[in-house]
Amino acid sequence: MSKPIILTGDRPTGKLHLGHYVGSLKNRVLLQNEEKYDMFVFLADQQALTDHARESAAIKESIGNVALDYLSVGLNPTKSTIFIQSQIPELAELTMYYMNLVSLARLERNPTVKTEIAQKGFGESIPTGFLVYPISQAADITAFKANFVPVGNDQKPMIEQTREIARSFNHTYNCEVLVEPEGIYPENEKAGRLPGLDGNAKMSKSLGNGIYLSDDAETVRKKVMSMYTDPNHIRVEDPGQIEGNMVFHYLDIFGTESDKDEIEAMKEHYQRGGLGDVKTKRYLLDILERELAPIRERRLEYAKDMGEVFRMLEEGSQKARQVAAQTLSEVKSAMGINYF
Ligand code: TRP
Repeated sequence: MSKPIILTGDRPTGKLHLGHYVGSLKNRVLLQNEEKYDMFVFLADQQALTDHARESAAIKESIGNVALDYLSVGLNPTKSTIFIQSQIPELAELTMYYMNLVSLARLERNPTVKTEIAQKGFGESIPTGFLVYPISQAADITAFKANFVPVGNDQKPMIEQTREIARSFNHTYNCEVLVEPEGIYPENEKAGRLPGLDGNAKMSKSLGNGIYLSDDAETVRKKVMSMYTDPNHIRVEDPGQIEGNMVFHYLDIFGTESDKDEIEAMKEHYQRGGLGDVKTKRYLLDILERELAPIRERRLEYAKDMGEVFRMLEEGSQKARQVAAQTLSEVKSAMGINYF
């Protein structure tokens, strides 16, 4: 019996931050290590190009960075297939066939695409590739016959659209070639969306409010010391607020079971007055470094040989390609366009 398949990935448009880490990376490593699934993790460089066409060099650099992020958090190429989207031409071919099953109106209704179009300010110049990326995402997922797709909540509409496409294909060509995937979403609402250091609802590159897995210890220290707390907590003896205080918000997310009692005691002390921000920040820094220091060490090791990192991606891509080619061949047979 083959194992259920998990497929997931990221757009390589930078480096990964703590929001990615608690929102998905940690969970992927756990799923990988359970060894109950066949896991595929990929870098969606073609999707990144849909709104960064002129920045292909930056995307290449990001592929190196994100691959290092993956390896350093514990994704293991002997357990998971790690690959690059653009190296699997079968995905583009599947996209081509699926496009005929999706109306323009349906694409324009996709809530995630809608929001992104507004955010990116494309105006009248929406790249066609951008508008159809949900279809290419459906190709990514169905090419591997993924049963489960662990992603953030913002990706729900993509999974929904993938399910529609799979259903429509199977119905149109009277077959059962494609699998309707299920999304796996973050259980913990708080971890599902990590706010930025400045208290902004989202940690993001453009807002400059993130801690990156590749930050050195001194950078992490400075960033933690700059975190948004309670602007009215001016003197140590003043009572402080924990709601909206990023230090306590992060402690709730990054503290483990064994830290709970101490965190609760600190919250009480802070609200009563007499506990300074520097102390709470130092405590948070210790907790973060407990996780980040080993990741950072592993990253430095892997970064010594980027040639090896890209060879790992090449091997993963070759493996992934075989799987996608098999699905494509089934798709073409179902459509009756295997002429020779
Ligand atoms: N859309 C995802 C993101 O923006 C990346 C992605 C592309 C993806 N194809 C996928 C995620 C397939 C899961 C499955 O991060």
